Amino acid sequence: MSAEVPFSRFMEDALYGPSGYYETRVRVGSQGGDFTTAARLPLFGATLARYAERTWEEFGRPEVLQVVEFGAGQGELASQVCAGLSERLPELRVEYVIIERSARLRQVQRERLAGRRTQVAGRCHVRWGSPRAGPVTLVLANEVLDAQPVELVRRERTGWLRGFVQTSSGRPRLVWRPAPDWLVALARRWLPVPVGSTAELCLHYLRLFRRAAATAVRGRALWFDYGITTAEWASGVRPWGTVRGYRNHQVLSLQDILVAAGECDMTADVHWDFAAACARQAGWRVVRIVDQGPFLLSAGIAEQCQQLWRAETDALHASRWTAQLKRLVLPGEMGERFAVLECERAKV
Ligand SMILES: C[S@@+](CC[C@H](N)C(=O)[O-])C[C@H]1O[C@@H](n2cnc3c(N)ncnc32)[C@H](O)[C@@H]1O
Repeated sequence: MSAEVPFSRFMEDALYGPSGYYETRVRVGSQGGDFTTAARLPLFGATLARYAERTWEEFGRPEVLQVVEFGAGQGELASQVCAGLSERLPELRVEYVIIERSARLRQVQRERLAGRRTQVAGRCHVRWGSPRAGPVTLVLANEVLDAQPVELVRRERTGWLRGFVQTSSGRPRLVWRPAPDWLVALARRWLPVPVGSTAELCLHYLRLFRRAAATAVRGRALWFDYGITTAEWASGVRPWGTVRGYRNHQVLSLQDILVAAGECDMTADVHWDFAAACARQAGWRVVRIVDQGPFLLSAGIAEQCQQLWRAETDALHASRWTAQLKRLVLPGEMGERFAVLECERAKV
């Protein structure tokens, strides 16, 4: 790496470079992990299998349903959705395709989902790589948008600055340079922050939505994440921006992550309005951006929980399902901290 790089490049290397976090040490989970996600809760995947069934019905009950998961992490969501779909629609051919950037995580996913390049998880055919462009497709992505490198910007009275990381003097440090015109134009349009604020913009959304659109000519997409709106940026609630790190469930500040690069998960809130605009530009119809709690309730999570709860033979196991329901749906929990961008293409 040269002596001074844009913050986005620094974050890219810290996450996905050869010694980056996702290639060397990513650890998800409550014990021994750096962060945990909804994907680890089986009720989440079981509810998304219900949603997949509904999508299949509303798109005319085709012979094949393709599910494309971006950034499948440790493969938990894939295994739950496959299990749910195998049970709900045993006769349907489901092709589950994982698009995963990290070679290390692809390996972890293969081990979880049975270890070979093409295999059947339940009755679903799971593989990695390029999805087919023909079938009705459901795209799933949990906490993938927040894991994209971002451009750091700062609004001064005199104009916009761009954040760079200087590595020449040993300890990495953040420096500010005048932002190029293209970045100024984007910042003016999407970041109405008060003067003196630091903020960020992710230039990777459009590519991800385009990749998703290329595979889902007909179908839906769900992008779950934590995020911030243009109105929230304007209100000045995040004067230092939202870039942060997670290590052992501790939050690290922007300054801390410069020295912990490769050892922590670096992330930034998803800018929902900008993400929605990118999705539209990529050819998606944005159905809604809604909190995770109401979304999962409308997808049938309460009924799903009841069904799983009733199938248990002892109270302790049954209570696990209600605990997951609360975690995923309640306002003080993931239900309000997370939202979902729901998109659709060409329903017939
Ligand atoms: C924060 S983790 C979330 C993992 C998992 N979805 C979960 O909820 O536990 C982000 C995941 O997205 C993957 N990822 C990031 N950018 C990606 C891209 N452009 N294409 C495919 N996968 C990507 C990472 O390697 C990682 O698997």
